[in-house]
Amino acid sequence: MRRAVSGKLGGILNGKHVLLGITGGIAAYKCAELVRGLRKAGADVRVVMTAAAERFVTPTTLQALSGHPVRGSLWDEAAEAAMSHIELARWADAVLIAPASADTLARLAGGHANDLLSTLCLATEAPVHLAPAMNRVMWANPATRANVAALQDRGFRIHGPASGEQACGETGEGRMLEPGQLVAALAGSAGAWQGRRVLITAGPTYEDLDPVRFLGNRSSGKMGFALAEAAVAQGAEVLLVAGPVLLPTPSGVRRIDVRSAAQMHDAVMAELAGTDTFIAAAAVADYRPKTVSAGKIKKSEADATLALERTPDILAAVAGSPMRPKRVIGFAAETERLEEYAREKMHNKRLDAIAANAVGMPGSGFESDDNALTVFTRTGRHAIAHTTKRQAADALLEILLEQLP
Ligand code: PMT
Repeated sequence: MRRAVSGKLGGILNGKHVLLGITGGIAAYKCAELVRGLRKAGADVRVVMTAAAERFVTPTTLQALSGHPVRGSLWDEAAEAAMSHIELARWADAVLIAPASADTLARLAGGHANDLLSTLCLATEAPVHLAPAMNRVMWANPATRANVAALQDRGFRIHGPASGEQACGETGEGRMLEPGQLVAALAGSAGAWQGRRVLITAGPTYEDLDPVRFLGNRSSGKMGFALAEAAVAQGAEVLLVAGPVLLPTPSGVRRIDVRSAAQMHDAVMAELAGTDTFIAAAAVADYRPKTVSAGKIKKSEADATLALERTPDILAAVAGSPMRPKRVIGFAAETERLEEYAREKMHNKRLDAIAANAVGMPGSGFESDDNALTVFTRTGRHAIAHTTKRQAADALLEILLEQLP
């Protein structure tokens, strides 16, 4: 059985003020356990419920568990006299809305302020975490997708939903994350990368030749996605610029999908301002066809030659930008002379560190779930032994903070 809050999280939110907003959805029944988990992690929790939430759980339960009166209305004079909604918004170190119904997402995306919870979200400077929960068709609806994208663009952190059996009897994406997972997500916000903006590229690029053919490579995106997941778990605000891959977006990560090196370059440069750390895990094509044929290229008896031109070097452009982030990190996938070539790339592209990846054998590098890396900084080298890409990502982030504080 899943433990509500793992022993590892006990005390990790010590002294943090968490404002828990509960909205109308059957998953609201899990909030009793969520409040207990947050308190066990050391947080001081105050609960705000919408009118719809009170149809699913009683304020009395949450008052008993949080140790504070539960707030519901913007017009409760006694409660406002004790702590006004503006004071409550300032009090919060983090706002967590769980479950966040489809209607709540729509109202937050629209900037509404017609009840206590939406007003608090407009009035707070604390990060707002949303744990959506709804029927799978509602979650997939283009209106909900657009609202979620708008909220992510504005810095709201989205956690989940998970996939599985739903209260309505259907199966699919839309279940609220478990209380333990939400406590872990918030604890991550108090982690070593808290307050840092991390931009990561992942996956391959596809360089079109004609409407049906392209030049690509074997990158699956797993390494870059693992880094995004690890960074967000450590509290970073993460933007993932992903080439064409078939991976789900890690919870809490903002993602921009691109296809070609030129598109990846443009997306990265447009988002660079304010970035603390840039990590280029993508396998970007170095060359693209000089011309892209409008129609399918027909075969003939003669041999064919492809004219190629260079793509923009995204990593070098970031390192040379006036908006250069504090840390600029590259990857180097090499089949031979790993250290020599990796150091050469670090020097030529003016990087702070490079993660060298021995590729060409099964069990690490491209496509695999595992990896082994050697991280070179200007002054040293640090080995990350063969492990899962997620653990390698954790280790790499730790090395970066230690070596490039
Ligand atoms: O995606 P996976 O299947 O999980 O595999 C992971 C990986 C092997 C793709 C990844 O860990 C890795 O090593 N990525 C770098 C791949 C590579 O071949 O890099 P490179 O040596 O061509 O380029 C060096 C660096 O410059 C890289 O950080 C690359 O992202 C960057 N670059 C390269 C060319 C270019 N036009 N723009 C760039 O930003």
